[in-house]
Amino acid sequence: SMELSLRPINLAQYIGQDKAKGNLRIFIEAAKMRNEPLDHVLLYGPPGLGKTTLASIIANEMGVQFRTTSGPAIERAGDLAAILSSLEAGDVLFIDEIHRLPRAVEEILYPAMEDFCLDIVIGSGSSARSVRLDLPPFTLVGATTRAGLLTAPLRDRFGVLSRLEYYETKDLCAIVERTADIFQVGIEKEAATEIARRSRGTPRIANRLLKRVRDISQVKGEQIISQQTTQTALEMLQVDAAGLDHIDHKLLIGIIDGFNGGPVGLDTISATIGEESQTIEDVYEPFLLQTGFIQRTPRGRQVTAKAYHHFNREVPKA
Ligand code: ADE
Repeated sequence: SMELSLRPINLAQYIGQDKAKGNLRIFIEAAKMRNEPLDHVLLYGPPGLGKTTLASIIANEMGVQFRTTSGPAIERAGDLAAILSSLEAGDVLFIDEIHRLPRAVEEILYPAMEDFCLDIVIGSGSSARSVRLDLPPFTLVGATTRAGLLTAPLRDRFGVLSRLEYYETKDLCAIVERTADIFQVGIEKEAATEIARRSRGTPRIANRLLKRVRDISQVKGEQIISQQTTQTALEMLQVDAAGLDHIDHKLLIGIIDGFNGGPVGLDTISATIGEESQTIEDVYEPFLLQTGFIQRTPRGRQVTAKAYHHFNREVPKA
């Protein structure tokens, strides 16, 4: 599909994340020189930064199959055993949201990661026996929003820990230009930069905004996507100059108006604005923290002076 073809397929095509990319390039090259599978890799960071893409690139660079699943999809130990025993030597197994693996499943994973074997129990009662099955050597690539969500024994079994960061504007701009190229549509440099600036450091958001801006530009009959149309389109899409959307606004204004700027607990915010606590914590809050619109305190979340200024509100006196 078009969605898949937007994804870079090798490290050379993958824009940004220079630190993670540079390290991985070396570890991949060394593993290939030794004719060994790559050590297990944990990718962590906010959603939309390309963890799945990077995992598929790892498989591609290693020249092996890419198998993918997710923590919540694996309900029983037998489900994981079935996946593991179907792997071929060197394969990359990608487990998204790996922190959500059930405990009993996670325990199967320890010997699989460490010794490439499966410990399974056959029979029951007095005739129950434990047998050990060999697995082909493989690379587990796990993805999670925060490394701290993993249990220590699981985290310790990854040889490579790679943190993905919010993208710089120049990198997002290059991604927007690359995607426009794939769409076979021209875009003014200022238009690409504007989309990049308002995409919360996130390629997934940048590509989504580009699609909507392209729609509006196309309906207007433009030859290439202009800066002017991009401004108008982003206003229509309710994405403000800092890249904050409707829900960010609800969240920040909710704390300002409802709680005099905070501090206020996550669950209280959640109940007030009608968004799941988990979604606020995983999707909205990381960017607002990173860009300094909110702070975490021991008594909850607090908006900053920057947030008051952003909404043209007067900062309350202490
Ligand atoms: N599309 C989405 N993320 C990308 C990235 N990091 N590099 C190139 N194209 C992308």
